[in-house]
Amino acid sequence: MASENTLTAQATGPRLLACLSDQTSAQAIRDFAAAQRWRNAAIVDGGVVAAHGQLQQNTAPNLLIVDIDDAEDPVQALYALADLCPPEMSVIAIGHRNDLNLYRDLMELGVTDYLPKPITVAALERSLRRGKRGSGGGATEETNKAQVITLMGARGGVGTTTVAAGLAWCIAHLHHRSVALLDLDLHFGNLALSLDLVPGPGLREALEYPARMDARLLGSAMLHESPQLRVLAAEEPLIDQPSVTAAAADAVLSVLRADCDFIIVDLPRHLDEIVRRMITIGTTVGVVTDLSLAAARDTLRLAEFNKVLSPTAKHVVIANQVGAAHRGEVGRTEFERVVGLNLDLAIPFEPQTALTTSSTGTALPAALRNSKAAAEIGAFATLLCGAEVPAKRSLLPTKFLPSLPGWLKRSA
Ligand SMILES: Nc1ncnc2c1ncn2[C@@H]1O[C@H](COP(=O)(O)OP(=O)(O)O)[C@@H](O)[C@H]1O
Ligand SMILES: [Mg+2]
Repeated sequence: MASENTLTAQATGPRLLACLSDQTSAQAIRDFAAAQRWRNAAIVDGGVVAAHGQLQQNTAPNLLIVDIDDAEDPVQALYALADLCPPEMSVIAIGHRNDLNLYRDLMELGVTDYLPKPITVAALERSLRRGKRGSGGGATEETNKAQVITLMGARGGVGTTTVAAGLAWCIAHLHHRSVALLDLDLHFGNLALSLDLVPGPGLREALEYPARMDARLLGSAMLHESPQLRVLAAEEPLIDQPSVTAAAADAVLSVLRADCDFIIVDLPRHLDEIVRRMITIGTTVGVVTDLSLAAARDTLRLAEFNKVLSPTAKHVVIANQVGAAHRGEVGRTEFERVVGLNLDLAIPFEPQTALTTSSTGTALPAALRNSKAAAEIGAFATLLCGAEVPAKRSLLPTKFLPSLPGWLKRSA
């Protein structure tokens, strides 16, 4: 079997690379990819050795399925592969041995799952659901803790920052969880200001030098809305062009994960490296939109884009400012028809929002406690935190599993 496909970012589905030694397994992977409607699976002849060669030469896939039967010492062989595996990549090992010790060793190494042959589509699907994330590098419990929620607006002004701040406020103050709010619009972000906080230069410095990033450096950039709600934001001079790569996303999250339950990221609407990486790592990936036709088009495009980057995240579409006459609404039913998706949340337009939140410097659910908008944002927080679950332990309804195990990505 030669390489059957190239890894292309345009195709639907995550980048899957399978390095296999037998036809039966290859057929199972083909069936599995077809069942998931993934069109960019690459199936390559050979096991760990082939995987090594592929990872050295090509862009890393999101998911690697690797046959370990060709390795004399599979644990050692996968350990050697670890350096080539980026943190968000998941690894499912397959082989003929059905041996608990081997399984444990592989799990310890950070492999997402081990499947004894013959592998089946059902077993692969189970793996995908329960995958714990693997990079060959080993994920610690500490880094697995936080949920990462990314929000991007389909258009400017739809209320992404309002929703991000409101959600963070509800999780921190109503559910008593530790939250970090990150505004990645280093030039125009208004998240900090919306909470009456003044951004400093620390975030940009930290993001520009990810190798140096640690809790102390990031701690000095943190703004404190309260002990349980901390904010990272910037207000860089427009003349400057901060140089931020995807590595900054991994670095900032690895620090924040250590003591946060939730990391909520307000994403700017330009799709640069760090934004793409954040979406890839997100456990819940949201698009915020109004109900206009113009926003419908971009909601559709963004939702599809998000699913390619982060296929196993919980994807949500949040309509905001619903009922605002000036936004050119087409109505919920028509909007859902155009987009081909159901709205997960519909936050009504509250005419006093802008004035009340800006004059009090507080999040919407705090400023307009009894409003329907506050209730809807609160419902989102409850979905993420789990309704009657004590703090620190969230058992989410199965319908809404943002911490859905992170094959393909996360260390979250
Ligand atoms: N549900 C709402 N009802 C009324 N006004 C809202 C609502 N959500 C946001 N706004 C207002 O809309 C404006 C833009 O909100 P913002 O969150 O900054 O948007 P974005 O981050 O998408 O650019 C702000 O003045 C904000 O107060
Ligand atoms: Mg904004």
